[in-house]
Amino acid sequence: MLDTIIKNGLVVNSDSSSYVDIGIKDGKIVFIGNSDYFPEALKTLDATGMEVYPGMIDSHVHVNYNQGEFTSLDTFAQASIAAAYGGTTTMIEFAIPMENETPLDALERRISEAKGNTYIDYSFHGCFTNQNLNDIHQVKEMIQAGIPSIKMFTTYENLMLTKEFIFALLKELSRHQGLALFHAENNSIISSNIKKFIQNKQLTPIYHAKSRPPIAEAAEIASLLTLIEETEAAGLFVHLSTGKVEELLKLYKQIKGLPVFIETCTHYLALDEEVYERENGHHYICSPPIHDSNEKENLWNMFDRGLIDIVSSDHCCFDTKQKDKYKDHFPSVPNGLPGIETRGIVLYSEGVQGGKITREQFAAITSENVAKMMGLYPNKGRIMVGSDADITIIDPKEKYKLTANDLHMQTDYTPFEGLMITGKILHTFVRGQHLIADGKFNESKCCGTFIKRTKPHI
Ligand code: URP
Ligand code: ZN
Ligand code: ZN
Repeated sequence: MLDTIIKNGLVVNSDSSSYVDIGIKDGKIVFIGNSDYFPEALKTLDATGMEVYPGMIDSHVHVNYNQGEFTSLDTFAQASIAAAYGGTTTMIEFAIPMENETPLDALERRISEAKGNTYIDYSFHGCFTNQNLNDIHQVKEMIQAGIPSIKMFTTYENLMLTKEFIFALLKELSRHQGLALFHAENNSIISSNIKKFIQNKQLTPIYHAKSRPPIAEAAEIASLLTLIEETEAAGLFVHLSTGKVEELLKLYKQIKGLPVFIETCTHYLALDEEVYERENGHHYICSPPIHDSNEKENLWNMFDRGLIDIVSSDHCCFDTKQKDKYKDHFPSVPNGLPGIETRGIVLYSEGVQGGKITREQFAAITSENVAKMMGLYPNKGRIMVGSDADITIIDPKEKYKLTANDLHMQTDYTPFEGLMITGKILHTFVRGQHLIADGKFNESKCCGTFIKRTKPHI
């Protein structure tokens, strides 16, 4: 007897779509084909007219993230419920060390904070901030513990690393086949711009964008690419906001064939710099900032050119009270946007329904590519026999205006307020558990599992 059959839906993987039924037992996909030939099931979901995707994976999520005076507002439980509403079945958060912690200490702390409190599957990226060369051996220990990815910052004074330290980390990652994640923005360019704007009393939100121009990101990526080439480490540049690096990426990724990967986020694809001119422009402060509409179009075009691999949320859940406190002083506004719930549907509506990407590309950039890069494949990332029954079902016909009132993140706003959306996420299964059914959270179905990841499939 099966647990669940999902029938009559259009099943979409990264390379093909077909009308097949899915049989689920004990959290795994055990049959794909015509359900007339499956054993009976306890429950059958008729997905006629719907699109059935591999559960989305969000590999860039901040939960309860401290930025000095401000801490983002959600817990693992709250973020994971919002994620499930948004069709996300696995999230990867960051174990950022506190002042006297080593990277491994931070990882242990984050794992224990999430344990038993998370409704979807989860993992963490390791993170080095303290620049202690004696800690570098922890890269190997982390990879052995199922954490094959390490985040490095090149800006934010309290988190950023020197090139010397990054070089040492990359050598170690290369030795153990781990993945480097870079927040790449050139701190010298940014800090000199911020100083200038403070002197000139140019402190409204648009100056946040002007202080971090596309060239600040491009310059840092260029410099890090040379280190990647030298060390032969694999690197993922997170939250790419500019197409200025297109030629550079073609060279390193495609001509030289180096293991260089690119993530962008929904807000860079759906919004443009005009948001900073709005009355609530400070609600859109994130780093890198959102640039002009040409940059947005360039990013969309980079999917077809094979230059962007994944789309994440960079979820960071501040509310308007926190954002408002330093409304007219952009350097003091907390950085980051809420998005774990909206990443998938905004990308689907703007991208798939907007004719910019195919359904198959959507499956690749929200799931299969992420699973491969993050060492979650083949359990996750694809609808196939033997994989976890992580499934996201979208009704492609429903049309509505996105509004914060209908969302479940621990904030009172969404950067996408008023955006017309085509498509609704109706069902989310996590390892066979029907967490979101007909758009409603099924509270009794807990809990997510900490996933020990393998080395990236590169
Ligand atoms: O502004 C952002 N992106 N905040 C979250 C932290 C980060 O830099 O990714
Ligand atoms: Zn970042
Ligand atoms: Zn981030």
